[in-house]
Amino acid sequence: MTVATDRLDHVSEDGIRQLVDAFYVKVRADAELAPIFARAIPGDWQPHLSKMYAFWSSVMLTTGRYKGNPVAKHLIIPDMKPALFERWLALFDATCREQFDNATSDAFRVKAERIAESLKLALFYRPDRPWPPEPTP
Ligand code: HEM
Repeated sequence: MTVATDRLDHVSEDGIRQLVDAFYVKVRADAELAPIFARAIPGDWQPHLSKMYAFWSSVMLTTGRYKGNPVAKHLIIPDMKPALFERWLALFDATCREQFDNATSDAFRVKAERIAESLKLALFYRPDRPWPPEPTP
C-alpha cells in the first residue's frame, strides 16, 4: 500500500504520546498481553512509555530519537507466540483509529505491520519449518 507521507505533517510528538499512552491502557487490560508486559515491566512504566514515544517519533516523523534494539529486547521475552502479534496489531490499529483520521491510521498500521513481520521473522523463523508459522493456540 502506498501511503503519502505529506499526510503525516499534522502528526505531532504530542499526538504520538497520546497514542502510546492510550495503546498501553488497552494492552494492560488485555488478558493475553497484560501478563507478558507485567512480567517485563514490574515497576515504573514511564521509562518504557518514553522509549515508545521516541520509537514512534523515529518511525513516523524520522526524528532519529529512538536508539535501541527491539529484536534483542523481544527475543528474551518469555511466552512470545506468533498469534500475540495479531492481538498487538489489532489493539494498536484500534487506538490509532480512535485518535487519527483513516489515512493517518493506515500509515501507522503499515509501519506497525512491517515491524511486526520483521520481529516475527527474528523470533520464530527457522529454515527447516514452514513460514508463516502455524497459529499456536
Ligand atoms: C506480541 C507482540 C508484542 C509483545 C508481547 C511485546 C512486548 C514488549 C515488552 C514486554 C517490551 C518491554 C521489554 C523490556 O523493557 O524489558 C517491549 C518493548 C518494545 N516493543 Fe514490543 N511487543 C510486541 C510487539 C511489538 C511491535 C509489533 C513493535 C513495533 C511495531 C514493538 C516495539 C517495541 C519497542 C520499540 C520496544 C522498546 C525496546 C527497547 O527497550 O529499546 N513491540 N515489547
